[in-house]
Amino acid sequence: MIIIPGPASQELGKNIAKQLKAKISPIEFTRFPDGESRIRFERNVEDDDVVIVQTTGPPQNENLIQLFLMADNAKDLKAKTITAVVPYFAYARQDQRFRLGEAFSLKTIITLLKTCGVKKILTVNSHNSAILKTMPIHIQDLSAIPLLAEHYKNKGFYNAVSLSLGKKGLNTAIEANNILKGGYDYIPTHRDRTSGVVTLEEKTLPVKEKDAVIFDDIISSGGTMIKAVAYVKRKGAKTVNVGCVHALLTEEVKNRILDVGADQIVATDSVQSSISVVSIVPLIADALAKKEARKRG
Ligand code: R5P
Repeated sequence: MIIIPGPASQELGKNIAKQLKAKISPIEFTRFPDGESRIRFERNVEDDDVVIVQTTGPPQNENLIQLFLMADNAKDLKAKTITAVVPYFAYARQDQRFRLGEAFSLKTIITLLKTCGVKKILTVNSHNSAILKTMPIHIQDLSAIPLLAEHYKNKGFYNAVSLSLGKKGLNTAIEANNILKGGYDYIPTHRDRTSGVVTLEEKTLPVKEKDAVIFDDIISSGGTMIKAVAYVKRKGAKTVNVGCVHALLTEEVKNRILDVGADQIVATDSVQSSISVVSIVPLIADALAKKEARKRG
């Protein structure tokens, strides 16, 4: 196996390789004067099982183009297999045609990766795990929620109430509760498909005078989390903490979440940010090691 850390995941890719004691193929990465990406592999990948590590957080479109360039390049250079490790999978939230005539973006991205020779995708807490099973490439969706819950447990939040956003996300709260053991529930959310505005419906929550941790896959505009933190605060929680997998948020959004009453916000390093304190390296390295072991039989 040879790891290629893409421009968006240099550190992550190198650390995954280090943990696996795998070889790295460094890349030369520059931009043409008009801003287009130029990528060159610094070593031969012929007959290698290539693993490209490239997250696709902001700027999503550029990071995706670089991923396509690397995968197609590996295909042309006769790599034996190509696996794409895409910790944050851009466009995964557009997982259907919500409105008539809309593009089914997730399918488009996966079709392009397949055309570029990708045989397997490894991702983390993709927005809709079930839909990934219907895609034309084998996609393994790992969960970093236990890592976030472990983080809070180690910080003294054993017995905190685990909360998810939306009933569909309840599994997230259940996964976290397996570690924190303080009970779990969900905050009912509704997103208007045209305006994108999220509203939270009223519901009783078992958080009064307790520590609560709200878990979510993504914080982007912060619209959802700002309302959720204020909601849990109103319900009388002693502390309101946030664990998010993919930190797409700006510093301003982070501060707004703290301003409405969050005691702390942590995220993984799937996308680097000032709150990325939980590493997904062991999660990904372990999945790749198991894949190798299966191949060896
Ligand atoms: C929604 O279904 C997701 O789980 C997140 O809650 C959402 O994507 C967060 O986006 P934003 O921060 O823009 O509200």
